[in-house]
Amino acid sequence: MSVKVAVVYYSSTGAVHQLAQAVAEGAEKAGAEVRLRRVPELAPDAAIDANPAWRAHVDATTDVEVAALDDLEWADAYALGSPTRFGNVAAQLKQFVDTTGGLWQRGVMADKPATAFTSAHNVHGGNESTLLALYNTFHHWGSVIVSPGFTDPAVYAAGGNPYGTAHPGANGAPAENVLAAARYQGTRLATIAKRLKGLAVD
Ligand SMILES: Cc1cc2nc3c(=O)[nH]c(=O)nc-3n(C[C@H](O)[C@H](O)[C@H](O)COP(=O)(O)O)c2cc1C
Repeated sequence: MSVKVAVVYYSSTGAVHQLAQAVAEGAEKAGAEVRLRRVPELAPDAAIDANPAWRAHVDATTDVEVAALDDLEWADAYALGSPTRFGNVAAQLKQFVDTTGGLWQRGVMADKPATAFTSAHNVHGGNESTLLALYNTFHHWGSVIVSPGFTDPAVYAAGGNPYGTAHPGANGAPAENVLAAARYQGTRLATIAKRLKGLAVD
């Protein structure tokens, strides 16, 4: 028996999408069954078309399954990812989170480990405030927050962010050091989920 991890994210231009894939890989490496899910796009086509990178990403990810509340029921652990929007969570991901009231009332997310990852254009452009905003939700869900801390060299190699993997978009697409930190975060989440279920860990 293993654990089930839901990686739920929003991405306009692909950085958080790449982080989400890396978190999913890390969780799978720890033996987890993973659902990688994007939340629905809410922006009008006119806004998307005004940014070729945004349009290209939307068109390239139509095959990624869309997140549903059932994914949160199914999972033993959660990883949420969002780009920074003025230091906060993107409305698209927040909209999905704001549909979880019924699950929250039934305690579906309670006692389950949860973690978050993000990307902002600037190194100091709101990465940490975005992660902490996502962690506010986890507090309300009653989840067990599993931030990376300084528990692995991969965290330092990606810039030393103990709150969660954070990619500075100004550097271009996430480089291997950042993807490695995201994979580590996924592995750590799945490993702690296993421990909480009393399962053996490697
Ligand atoms: C409306 C809007 C607000 C943003 N706010 C910030 C911000 O506060 N700080 C920052 O560094 N980047 C900001 N960005 C840039 C994105 O967070 C950044 O490009 C991120 O890497 C995009 O991730 P994605 O490729 O997954 O969409 C903003 C972008 C948009 C469109």
